[in-house]
Amino acid sequence: MVATVPVAVAALLAAASPASAGTIGSAGAGDPYFPLAGNGGYHVVHYDLKLHYDPETEHLDGTAVLTARATQRLTRFDLDLDGLKVTGLTVDHVKAGYRRDGQELVVTPRTALPGGREFRVTVTYSGRPGPVTDPDGSLDGWIPTSDGAFVAGEPQGAMTWFPANGHPEDKSSYDFAITVPEGTTAVANGVYLGSRTAGGRTTFRWSQPEPMAAYLATATVGKFQVQQYTTRDGLKVFNAVDPREASAAARVLKKLPSVLEWESKLFGPYPFRAAGAIVDHAPKVGYALETQGRPLYDSAPSVSTLVHESAHQWFGDSVSLTRWKDIWLNEGFATYAEWLYAEQHGGPSAQKTFDDLYARRAGDSLWAFPPGDPGSGENIFAAPVYNRGAMTLHELRRAVGDPVFFRILRAWAACHRHGHGTTGQFTALAKRISGRNLDGLFHTWLYGRGKPDRP
Ligand code: ARG
Ligand code: ZN
Repeated sequence: MVATVPVAVAALLAAASPASAGTIGSAGAGDPYFPLAGNGGYHVVHYDLKLHYDPETEHLDGTAVLTARATQRLTRFDLDLDGLKVTGLTVDHVKAGYRRDGQELVVTPRTALPGGREFRVTVTYSGRPGPVTDPDGSLDGWIPTSDGAFVAGEPQGAMTWFPANGHPEDKSSYDFAITVPEGTTAVANGVYLGSRTAGGRTTFRWSQPEPMAAYLATATVGKFQVQQYTTRDGLKVFNAVDPREASAAARVLKKLPSVLEWESKLFGPYPFRAAGAIVDHAPKVGYALETQGRPLYDSAPSVSTLVHESAHQWFGDSVSLTRWKDIWLNEGFATYAEWLYAEQHGGPSAQKTFDDLYARRAGDSLWAFPPGDPGSGENIFAAPVYNRGAMTLHELRRAVGDPVFFRILRAWAACHRHGHGTTGQFTALAKRISGRNLDGLFHTWLYGRGKPDRP
């Protein structure tokens, strides 16, 4: 006899295996580290976000228009939205049913959506957005500042300011129109389309045409000094800098074109048509984020942080994760870019950086877990992911030699450009291009417990 499955268990099953979900889109993308992040049953092709934000009252009004494609027949599907109040919701311009369930906004369209159908969801919402606290205790999402908001969504904060399919497995193009009080600037991703001021408010328009994961979207608001120029390569640069950080930032930001040029030589063509930086003054944040095309810094960055966030444009932004477990593909690569930059610009060799790290005693937190298997969302931004991830690439470089190593990095960026890549795909590519059996190396450095034996 088949027992009735309790509702909570059924929901878990649906979240765990989208294939078994029937006509109900699952509540998560199936990522064990963040089970409710993302959703099943559809792909968002495009987000059109219209936001009004008042830094004084910290009030946000939003209209999000999502153009999506059903990947299965859908009688119901979820969006991720944390906090805020939904004031209206239509599917294909027809009022749809909806309810809130934690971070899930559960939508029931008037009529079922056939698999393959493109549909449009319009959500109007408002409230006072705030960040989420991540498993490691850090904040991400909409983080109010003294003059606006620092908006960074890795890994799960996109849902704090727009209804999203909030997992990097789903990538989409974006348009933004952000209205703020006159004198304040709103900076998002991609190409700046201009601003218009009326009645004491200014609307800033932005367009991000290349596919972007929701966590890389930003709509950072503040009193910024703006600098715009076009590089020799025809890349449009838009920098926004908090005046309190301006003098420290200027020295570093003037290197942005040369850093991007240097990285383009190593990794292949820069993947986006716009670039720049947002340098905010957000002391309680404690990190920078590689927001697509225009990294976001909580204070004036060092050159190596600039190099790191820029390298993410290739590794993390253009080539995205399918699972958070593979985070070393982002952080290990961006960290190794820092080592390479130092090596080629009068700093220590990558070998020296490796050796200094390797000298750490066996009980050091660097060896707490292997980078290929962080174990939980709590560990995704910890030292083993960044440093031992970079050490893995260094060992690969030593094993195959510089020409082959850089060929592998360029092939990785090229083959998965504007798409996704997994650890398994990377190790297979490295083996194929080098013609070497690298199983032992990857096994030791990516998956071995504790401190690896001396290489
Ligand atoms: N990816 C960022 C970096 O470049 C780190 C983001 C950290 N996010 C967080 N919620 N702690 O290193
Ligand atoms: Zn990083």
